[in-house]
Amino acid sequence: MITFNQKTGIFHLSAQNMSYVMQALPSGHLIHLHWGKKLKNAALDYVIDEIKRASYIADTDGIKEFKLERLPIEYPAYGNSDLRTPAFSLIHEDGSNLSDFRFISYEIVDNLLKPKSLPSLIDEKGETLIITLFDKVKEIEMKQYYGLNSKTAALIRFVTVKNKSNKITKIEALNSACVHFEDTNKELLHFSGAWAREAHRQQNSLTQNSQVIESRRGQSGHEHQPFIALVDSLVTETTGSVHAMSLIYSGDFKASVTTEMHDALRLQIGLNDYQLSWNLLPNEEFEAPAAMLVYAENGLREMSQEFKTTYQNFLVRGKYKWQKRPILINSWEAFYFNLEEERLLKFAEESVNLGVELFVLDDGWFAKRDNATSSLGDWNTNYKKFPNGLGSFSQKIKALGLQFGLWVEPEMINPDSQLYQEHPDWVLGDCSRNLSLSREQYVLDLTNPEVRDYLVKTFIDIFNESAVDYVKWDFNRSLTEVGSDYLDASQQGEVFHRYILGLYDIVERITAAFPDVLFENCAGGGGRFDCGMTYYMPQTWTSDDTDAIERLLIQEGTSYLYPSASMGCHVSASPNHQNGRLTSLKTRGVVAMQGNFGYELDILKLSKEEKCEIKNQIALYKEIRQTVQFGELFNLSTAQKDNAKAWLYRSQDSNEVVVSYVQILSKANTPSKRLRLSGLQATADYLLVDTGEIRSGDELMAIGLAIDEVKEDFYSQMWRLKKC
Ligand code: GLA
Repeated sequence: MITFNQKTGIFHLSAQNMSYVMQALPSGHLIHLHWGKKLKNAALDYVIDEIKRASYIADTDGIKEFKLERLPIEYPAYGNSDLRTPAFSLIHEDGSNLSDFRFISYEIVDNLLKPKSLPSLIDEKGETLIITLFDKVKEIEMKQYYGLNSKTAALIRFVTVKNKSNKITKIEALNSACVHFEDTNKELLHFSGAWAREAHRQQNSLTQNSQVIESRRGQSGHEHQPFIALVDSLVTETTGSVHAMSLIYSGDFKASVTTEMHDALRLQIGLNDYQLSWNLLPNEEFEAPAAMLVYAENGLREMSQEFKTTYQNFLVRGKYKWQKRPILINSWEAFYFNLEEERLLKFAEESVNLGVELFVLDDGWFAKRDNATSSLGDWNTNYKKFPNGLGSFSQKIKALGLQFGLWVEPEMINPDSQLYQEHPDWVLGDCSRNLSLSREQYVLDLTNPEVRDYLVKTFIDIFNESAVDYVKWDFNRSLTEVGSDYLDASQQGEVFHRYILGLYDIVERITAAFPDVLFENCAGGGGRFDCGMTYYMPQTWTSDDTDAIERLLIQEGTSYLYPSASMGCHVSASPNHQNGRLTSLKTRGVVAMQGNFGYELDILKLSKEEKCEIKNQIALYKEIRQTVQFGELFNLSTAQKDNAKAWLYRSQDSNEVVVSYVQILSKANTPSKRLRLSGLQATADYLLVDTGEIRSGDELMAIGLAIDEVKEDFYSQMWRLKKC
């Protein structure tokens, strides 16, 4: 619910356990009063009067003791007496970078609004508060959006800036959300890593400085999730408060927390201001990406559930939103580029016998691509590998009873390609310089509409020709020497963001043309696992690291923010191709069953026993698939701190429970261990499906399940429970 008190100027947004409170002061400054626990009565105007501390700072509007730097400003500017980190920066045609936005009006609408050209939540039953601010001197209008959805307490924030003058203003920074905290007794939580090491949970203390979480790579990146949170230092899965922000965007972002000299915090998230310089022409409007803000009173699980429920309900779209995802087999780690129709058909035939539902033809199927050095851009079938064309191969796969999936990397071009011979000018980058190759490829300039139209047409034709049921959309390098020959000299500071707008334009058009096709997002694994791509593609390949043990941390981190159905998890070969580790097929299966399950190894090379085990794994996953993909996740222990990782999925109706346990290293002379469960109904009885025993919920949560004596590294165990 959103209310406004005319007398005090107080706005109160509330949902379930959360309140967000602001005040428009008589001076027109917008002040932040509260984001956290739900308040019955948000008449907090006394808070401003009670802020007395801090001197040696300037007065505003010539009013003695009216010091903006003392106040919790909602969306701080540069150009007044508040010298702390601003939320945005504009440079006007006369060279001035001062801004002064004051409250003009507000509006409350019955719909959850989103930026027009960018992804965000969609919920017609939601509501949005729009606060209009205006800079009279420069004639610039700024609108602050605050949206509530109809199911969770997540808050959507974004900002638009409109130039109402007849001069050009440059946007040099524009955050989507900025929140002030008076309480500095918090720690910073974020998820970081690298290629094949994505989403590792990190928590560190704050001190008087700024800490930045960002991407400057032209993609949200493997390095940091576009996410930042402030947590109580002793936060656990179920205790401690969490204030989290996540940006619904796939390009360069920046999130920061600044601890300032007067013991307050500023938490911000938005587009990265690095290399950003956007020309806002007269009458034009610029919209910042949407950020989602989640407050949780009871620890990380509540935060996580709030993110996932909101995304699953209002961000993920299309036919697959609530549909069980097919169990797939992917050709990549099985054959890499060595694709051969005959062998692939045998591989597909064998996978049908094992219960696989979707066959995915990964890289290597087109032009003369036998390795990474050529052919990106030339999206025609390699007839040496598929003598009768891709359409015919797809038909043969479907005739076996499998769905057909295809890997593509549309945004890329190899210099060794016909497309490059014809259109060297389509490459993104400042072509007056030597452009860097990465994986032997350049990036196409998606700021150019001709390039975008070409890609949309090309891929619509390919997907039609091969009658795809599934597409894996890959992106395998970061942007370097960024510039665009298509854009004017004055627009070179717009390239990073225009690239992402171009990407969203093509993925919107292509996915809309194939409403029945399942799209999987990928960028060398989880290099663009973000909410922006999740809006277009309901699942993502979590990591190129398929080792079951390293996946424990990667999947744990990712699962804090994204629905399980969106996390691609595959069983691959042992020794593992990324790190050489040997693990049992059982443990690889247990770990891959944490998400959207599949295989990525040459099953033709497996023994009869191994195939039999895979058949059983697939049969088991089919039974637990609904619970895993759409149920609620409970972390029972974390691989980050413990030698073991355990997690539990509870079905939406709470009747089915799946518990998984992986012990990393085996240890001699250890006492017997039990695993205490969470999320059960204390008064209900549960059937342990494998043994037929009945245990009550309170016992299972207080006493727990017995863990076998472990005499091997990388040991795993799994239990299924049904409520009686
Ligand atoms: C990326 C993906 C892999 C695979 C290869 C193909 O690295 O993450 O899964 O598709 O590209 O080149």
